[in-house]
Amino acid sequence: MNSFSAGLRGLAVAGVATLAGMTGAAAQGTLVLYCGVDEAWCRAMSTTFEKQTGVHVDMTRQSSGEIYARLRAEKANPRADIWWGGTGDPHLQAAEEGLTEEYKSPRLAEMNDWALKQAERGQFRTVGIYMGALGYGYNKEELARRKIAAPSCWADLVKPEYKGEVQMADPNSSGTAYTAMATFVQLMGEEPAFVFLKKLHANINEYTKAGAAPAQSAGKGETLVGIAFQHDVITVAKRNLPVAVVSPCEGTGYEIGSMSIVKGARHPEEARKFYDWALTPEAQKLGAQFGSFQFPSNTATPVPPEAPDLSKVKLIAYDFATFGSSATRTRLLGRWTSEVKNLPR
Ligand code: F6P
Repeated sequence: MNSFSAGLRGLAVAGVATLAGMTGAAAQGTLVLYCGVDEAWCRAMSTTFEKQTGVHVDMTRQSSGEIYARLRAEKANPRADIWWGGTGDPHLQAAEEGLTEEYKSPRLAEMNDWALKQAERGQFRTVGIYMGALGYGYNKEELARRKIAAPSCWADLVKPEYKGEVQMADPNSSGTAYTAMATFVQLMGEEPAFVFLKKLHANINEYTKAGAAPAQSAGKGETLVGIAFQHDVITVAKRNLPVAVVSPCEGTGYEIGSMSIVKGARHPEEARKFYDWALTPEAQKLGAQFGSFQFPSNTATPVPPEAPDLSKVKLIAYDFATFGSSATRTRLLGRWTSEVKNLPR
């Protein structure tokens, strides 16, 4: 087959697939889902919901900041129906900017207090679906090989022995990295936090797009240390990779992973159906089954035994209202980009 006829055949196949998709969609409904957690969990949520309801799910996985930016760009002509997962701060920013829709699920009464508080802060345009503490992971074998003492604090990460050995995501794309930046600001005060971020920058080997990537790289020994949510480090350790999780001695921030319905969604009924279902213990249990170990928001969902023991984590009183506000997020991200990101290393 020459390339012209191969192209025609491809077009014909694509046409049939589109028609079939449209027929299915018309018959059973469609949901366009922007998903912000680990790919395996995103896929499990999509296929299980599809199986249980017959609603066809068109899922895209991206990082928190990327989904927020996409919703903003698509505001006049929204493509997505629901944003499920990702750190809560950009969900709050989207709520404040009117990118998402108010909805009070009948399931709200079953939520933990922190998940409900998130809903209240976002005028019920969002809700907490899980919680997770920030920290970092280090590769135990590489650390021993280089005879470096095990790190236990944030302050350790700016020591000279970690030059080029720390990985973190870019806070513009990643909610994890934004949580890290906001944590430093809350622990130290803004000016000292930026001094710290500049020192940290000197030790950074790469700013990744996704927040969980540094934990995965630490597991593979591609970086000594990866700043990430503790549950993401545990996910890597469960794959038998030599990574240890650190809950920093100074204290640490946390996320309230969230869900929001997109304003102007083309499939609002399907979006509410997914929303209600995603808050059930049955749906929330899929996280641990597919290797994600956050704290679930429904009080009846079993907490995965692998989840970090929060009684041993020094959690700060993370100020979600301030650090999830449009003004603060925009300002801090702008400041990091202009003052830190492009500094020579
Ligand atoms: O699924 C893992 C996870 O760490 C979530 O707990 C979190 O909400 C999300 O990824 C953050 O991803 P990112 O930093 O890429 O926005």
